[in-house]
Amino acid sequence: MLKWHSVAAVLLAAFSYAHQTGIAENYGDDDTEVNLNLGPDDGHIDPIRHEPLECLQVSHPVLTEDGLARINELIERHASQSSYSFRLMNASFGNSYGHPHVAPYTPPPRSFPRAYLNMTVTCQGHQFDRLATMWLGDVEIFRTSTAEPIENPGIVWHYTKDVTAFMPLWMRNSSLIFDLGNLVNEKYTGVFNVDITLHFHDTEVNGPHPGPAHFILPVSAGKGHKNESSAFIYPGDKAVTTVKLPGDTKRAILTIAATGQAEEEFWWSNLPESLAGYFKYSDNSRLPGGSSFREVRVFIDGKLAGLAWPFPVIFTGGIAPPLHRPLVGLQAFDMREYEVDITPWLGILCDGEDHTVSMEVQAIDDTEHPNGALTQVKGHWVLSGKIFGWREGVPGTRVIVGEEPTTNISDVLYKVGVGRPDPTELIYNQTISRSFEVRSRIRLPVEGDVTVVWKQELHMFNNGYMRHSGVWHDVDADYSGYGLSKYDASHGLSTGFRYPVSTTYWYKSPDPDTNATLTVLARLRQEMELTNMGVTPFATGIEPFLERLGGRRVSGTHLRAVRDGQAQFSQDKKHSYGFGEMRQTYELRATDSESVDKPWEPTRPDLLYFRGIKFVNETKTEDKEMVRDHLVQSDRPGAKTNGNPGNPAFNGWDKFAPLHGKSLGMSRLCAKGCPSKPEGNNAHRVDVDLEDNAVELQNLLAKNLV
Ligand SMILES: *[C@@H]1O[C@H](CO)[C@@H](O)[C@H](O)[C@H]1NC(C)=O
Ligand SMILES: *[C@@H]1O[C@H](CO)[C@@H](O)[C@H](O)[C@H]1NC(C)=O
Ligand SMILES: *[C@@H]1O[C@H](CO)[C@@H](O)[C@H](O)[C@H]1NC(C)=O
Ligand SMILES: *[C@@H]1O[C@H](CO)[C@@H](O)[C@H](O)[C@H]1NC(C)=O
Ligand SMILES: *[C@@H]1O[C@H](CO)[C@@H](O)[C@H](O)[C@H]1NC(C)=O
Ligand SMILES: *[C@@H]1O[C@H](CO)[C@@H](O)[C@H](O)[C@H]1NC(C)=O
Ligand SMILES: *[C@@H]1O[C@H](CO)[C@@H](O)[C@H](O)[C@H]1NC(C)=O
Ligand SMILES: *[C@@H]1O[C@H](CO)[C@@H](O)[C@H](O)[C@H]1NC(C)=O
Repeated sequence: MLKWHSVAAVLLAAFSYAHQTGIAENYGDDDTEVNLNLGPDDGHIDPIRHEPLECLQVSHPVLTEDGLARINELIERHASQSSYSFRLMNASFGNSYGHPHVAPYTPPPRSFPRAYLNMTVTCQGHQFDRLATMWLGDVEIFRTSTAEPIENPGIVWHYTKDVTAFMPLWMRNSSLIFDLGNLVNEKYTGVFNVDITLHFHDTEVNGPHPGPAHFILPVSAGKGHKNESSAFIYPGDKAVTTVKLPGDTKRAILTIAATGQAEEEFWWSNLPESLAGYFKYSDNSRLPGGSSFREVRVFIDGKLAGLAWPFPVIFTGGIAPPLHRPLVGLQAFDMREYEVDITPWLGILCDGEDHTVSMEVQAIDDTEHPNGALTQVKGHWVLSGKIFGWREGVPGTRVIVGEEPTTNISDVLYKVGVGRPDPTELIYNQTISRSFEVRSRIRLPVEGDVTVVWKQELHMFNNGYMRHSGVWHDVDADYSGYGLSKYDASHGLSTGFRYPVSTTYWYKSPDPDTNATLTVLARLRQEMELTNMGVTPFATGIEPFLERLGGRRVSGTHLRAVRDGQAQFSQDKKHSYGFGEMRQTYELRATDSESVDKPWEPTRPDLLYFRGIKFVNETKTEDKEMVRDHLVQSDRPGAKTNGNPGNPAFNGWDKFAPLHGKSLGMSRLCAKGCPSKPEGNNAHRVDVDLEDNAVELQNLLAKNLV
């Protein structure tokens, strides 16, 4: 059950966390009583830093006017193209709940084929990680989250994102809304300074993907005119809107942004609902349930149009915060959207009338039905969507006609296996497979009658092992699937994904070995595999390479990223501190045209970009980077060294924000009452033999070290 893949080194202590969103939620009350500013330091040495610690999310290069830029560095120079750039925003987020940054947006003086954003964020002090969304009017452009800061000189991170997909919006007057809900007080002092420049440039790219859409319609709460974020906070908000499409829309892709927050943040580690009450706590509380399955369902006029299985984003305070500094989790700085081809619906959507588009997020309740039944999630999901449309260019109110699509969704067949070795231990596994198909005939002015099909297959398994009445938890899960559209024999959108996640964590509260009110030992291995081919509206990473791939039959990209690391974290009344190590690889390849029909098994002929990087105790110990077959020189002028190299005063421990009552593992502790007053309250004591288990965990780690 416990699978440790490649890793070295043992882990250490960490600190607590809370991922906060625009949900008005006060963390102050149910938090542990940690005062991060009190000294003296109990044996932990503060690192001496002369420059801000640079945090990063590994990602592939973006095409700029001067060549290939990765994160914010130019790693390959090309002949410069003409360009136009300006500062999109430069704003500070202190007490910013309900107060997004808002400014008028005016377009560049002429049109350009490509655009990207360059973001720099700085922060000093102590702060939790936060979710942020950026909007042009009612359309979400970018969803990001923050790293946890340290005191002076603080942290900095950069991110570069290709935003060519939004060109129709960039060419119009609008308002820019950046919503980063933060709270500062005497303990949590970190203010996030967000500086974003927008760059347009004349680099032409002719690849397997269509040019930017002709129009983009929001599927959101439509609050841009009130200077607010238009995210739906589901299920409090009903996620429903109306859209009216141009009568000559010949192709449309709906994209969905979906992020579980608060009690839904760690949905992928939740228990089957039937087992949520397995451990008997004195206050009869239950562990987080609803299964470790979540499905976002999209409806057009009330009829199911597609499914999206969310990526399990682990934010920078997740599980144990030292897992994420300075190398943040997959997608933490750039959350991807899910795509559904809604072209089969155009016969209906092109009638010049309003149509409703709605979304819901479902979990599973297996308490009544043996195969489980879909049930609305109880907690907070931040949802928004948009429709990218390409037009025929033929004026008229109803150029495209067609029949009502037929749909076929598989029955819910959720299987749970349970092993109950002991009243304080639980072994379980869960599986579910889903398939969905929608098909219709639409009449296009040029092609005539075309049969349009959108088909999805999705599968997951999620195996869990819990000990010590839930505070020790091992999860080994895999979510995978594909979505494929066909317009007669030709290809539409073709996407595939695989999201394995495997973690073991142990929350000891209090920790008898150190007198800490909480100690967390954690290991995490997470992967993300994505194939993106055909009519995807977004940049896939192939753009900078197309020129050189020349005549090859390239269909899109295959991306595989793996993070593997471990950490220890502790908090007491005064401090939250820890250390850890994390290794990541990131590999982007071109896919060939044969892959379009089987996005779950892409053939991978060409390596485009590779990076393998490792940090131990916030110090970079490994960094290999390749662009195609060339090694990128890490000693080139201007190359940044991250971390604390050669700092003899730094012993590996650093400070973090405390873990919050709703974070992973803490929820197991909170099942017995949240540790708001940890000292002198034995109600939170883990009722097990900690000595034995400490030895066991050490053995476990030792056995699996490479
Ligand atoms: C992004 O902005 C940073 C900070 O201003 C700058 O150093 C960097 O060169 C920029 N990168 C790109 C690709 O524009
Ligand atoms: C951005 O704002 C910060 C204060 O938040 C300021 O110190 C900095 O100079 C500004 N940068 C630019 C380029 O205006
Ligand atoms: C929205 O913000 C702009 C400043 O960018 C301001 O001029 C306008 O009055 C605000 N509108 C509302 C409805 O608050
Ligand atoms: C956009 O706004 C600017 C200044 O606010 C104005 O001069 C311009 O005419 C507007 N453009 C359009 C297309 O409305
Ligand atoms: C629906 O799909 C299932 C499995 O994919 C298939 O067995 C069934 O025949 C389909 N039903 C219809 C009406 O097409
Ligand atoms: C799931 O759990 C059941 C009961 O413990 C067990 O028999 C079965 O082998 C497990 N399946 C997997 C795939 O682990
Ligand atoms: C824990 O606290 C007790 C009582 O204050 C003290 O005697 C003991 O030395 C402490 N243990 C550690 C490991 O700090
Ligand atoms: C990382 O820091 C911890 C805590 O000081 C220490 O035990 C460990 O040896 C360090 N790891 C390395 C490789 O230096």
